[in-house]
Amino acid sequence: MSLLSVLSNGEVPMAVKVHDLSITYRTTFERKPTLKQALVRFGRGQRAVREIEAIKNVSFDVRNGTSMGIIGSNGAGKSTLMRAMAGILPPTTGSIEVWGRASTLLALGVGFNHNLSGRENIILGGLAAGLSRREVEERAAEVAEWTELGDFIDMPMRTYSSGMNARVGFSVAVHMKPDILMIDEALSTGDAHFREKATAKMAELRESARAMFLVSHGLGSIKEMCNEAMWLDRGKLMMRGDPAEVVKAYMKFVKVKKSESATEDM
Ligand SMILES: Nc1ncnc2c1ncn2[C@@H]1O[C@H](COP(=O)(O)OP(=O)(O)OP(=O)(O)O)[C@@H](O)[C@H]1O
Ligand SMILES: [Mg+2]
Repeated sequence: MSLLSVLSNGEVPMAVKVHDLSITYRTTFERKPTLKQALVRFGRGQRAVREIEAIKNVSFDVRNGTSMGIIGSNGAGKSTLMRAMAGILPPTTGSIEVWGRASTLLALGVGFNHNLSGRENIILGGLAAGLSRREVEERAAEVAEWTELGDFIDMPMRTYSSGMNARVGFSVAVHMKPDILMIDEALSTGDAHFREKATAKMAELRESARAMFLVSHGLGSIKEMCNEAMWLDRGKLMMRGDPAEVVKAYMKFVKVKKSESATEDM
């Protein structure tokens, strides 16, 4: 599937369509009791429920050939949106359609079994991505090699640094021939050498995948890697468009917010 493929009616095919999506997390937690409450309840835990609206009425569609950057403050809903598009998290309301197989490299290392080695996790990752046993066996050695972890590849992953973890995650994600490539902050923990290698790999995949989503706080990489960008703020889609313009608007917003809170402090 090439990026340039067009339907006979001249339209570029759709890769992802998100319609009026809202996602609410419901978390039950033990409310921290006061001493008196603790005595009255004889230590029985009282459960409280907190709902967090992480995504609020977001709609967009992405056609083949798009590399979409997603930016926004911590807690804006970026990872939640990615998890939903990857099919890990069901929508609370609204709908998501994805054409093809999504590869994900979400919160790094999530899904890995840290008692197994990097190589074993690569095999599991391939099977989880829907490849056949034979395809995985064919590709595992190459994927392991690509991490450049040397002997560490056969050590349990709990002995890895976070950058080493990221290398395995990234390597699995990009080698599984995804239709839709999704990368959440993958490059942030890699060292300079790996960052460069990963950037080149992503550029290469951009040519073969239908679409790519890149979540990053590195606004420079967003401008460099993406041909479109979205900015999320507290679950809402604030802006979508040219990466340079979206980054500019977001930075202006961050500055305004900063000066507002500074005046509040006075
Ligand atoms: N598993 C969860 N259970 C409950 N609430 C969650 C969960 N994951 C995220 N949230 C909440 O949802 C909101 C959005 O979180 P999300 O992780 O999507 O943000 P983000 O934009 O990826 O932030 P960051 O830049 O820090 O990675 C936050 O308020 C967060 O507290
Ligand atoms: Mg996140």
